[in-house]
Amino acid sequence: MSAKSKISVVGAGGNVGGIVAYSVAMHGMAHSVVLVDRDVDRARGKALDMNQAAAAMRSHTCVTVAESYEDVRDSKIVVITAGFPRKEGMSRDDLLMKNAEIMREVVGEVKKVAPESILIIVSNPLDTMTYVALKESGFPKSRVIGMAGILDSARMTHFIQEKLGFGAGQIRSTVIGGHGDTMVALPRFSTVAGVPLHDLLNEEEIEEIVEKTRHGGAEIVKYLGTSAYLAPGKATAIMVDAILRDSKSIYSCATLLEGEYGHKNVVGGVPVMLGANGAEKIITVSLDTCEKKEFEHSVTSVQETIEVLYEKKFFGEEKYERD
Ligand code: NAI
Ligand code: 2OP
Repeated sequence: MSAKSKISVVGAGGNVGGIVAYSVAMHGMAHSVVLVDRDVDRARGKALDMNQAAAAMRSHTCVTVAESYEDVRDSKIVVITAGFPRKEGMSRDDLLMKNAEIMREVVGEVKKVAPESILIIVSNPLDTMTYVALKESGFPKSRVIGMAGILDSARMTHFIQEKLGFGAGQIRSTVIGGHGDTMVALPRFSTVAGVPLHDLLNEEEIEEIVEKTRHGGAEIVKYLGTSAYLAPGKATAIMVDAILRDSKSIYSCATLLEGEYGHKNVVGGVPVMLGANGAEKIITVSLDTCEKKEFEHSVTSVQETIEVLYEKKFFGEEKYERD
């Protein structure tokens, strides 16, 4: 890891951004973490709290607060969690127009001061916000990556462990597609200490896990009154770490599809290799007929959301070219 690694988190005064920054600081992943938020006092309070935690941990990471975007200059990675979270009864798509405007504003500022940065997008609706960030930044697709697949896969992993009653730490799950109710959980690619899930659970039990995974976010909203932030923040920090360490690890992340998986001009979650240059490679998994159908359905729902932006002239007179 470069000693000069600098990470900025836009939206760090909030729940998810705060946890991303805290995780980076606690693990000493970066030399410096810059907290950006339109509520500067919240960012100030969080920075003090984090620096004191870092001191207790004897971490070398320094947390600072951006007084303006000038402080984001030359960041290696900019995580964007700015936006409104989902409240109970509110769909992710309800957030669309509000968060698209925020994404436009933030990316417009970031690209002026950190034109070589890698953007990790977290704001919802995730796939569409990643699409907006791509268009507004003009960055190559390898440098604009959405976080959802690691979170959704972790949720599936948890539900498998809960159902089995064993295997914690030994379960691998994969969830692809859009980050919404149409996400595609892949039990065929899930294992417990290398043992295929289908050898341990019957169809009905697996279907229950898939359903719980799809609604994992909403279940937490029901209890907390706001959306999850611990697992989302940690999942994002895992992406930061993989990029900074150039680990070439494979994670499910949202990326622009340009013919991969049979789609183009749409963002979807698929396995990608994360390294120093961002999403360095898209891995193509052989899906069976049923999985392909589910993936199609999920991508279509993302396309429909992107289409709303075009219809509302968010991108001016440009028309959306769907495959
Ligand atoms: P939050 O409300 O706690 O934090 C959002 C922060 O963004 C606030 O501190 C707010 O002041 C700031 N902000 C708003 N507009 C801004 C702007 N123009 N410039 C700078 N800062 C700005 O919300 P939370 O819970 O942290 O969620 C953030 C976003 O992440 C939401 O859109 C939520 O739906 C999404 N999310 C996505 C997940 C995923 O898997 N991709 C998981 C969890 C949340
Ligand atoms: C989640 O899945 C709301 O996208 C957020 O928790």
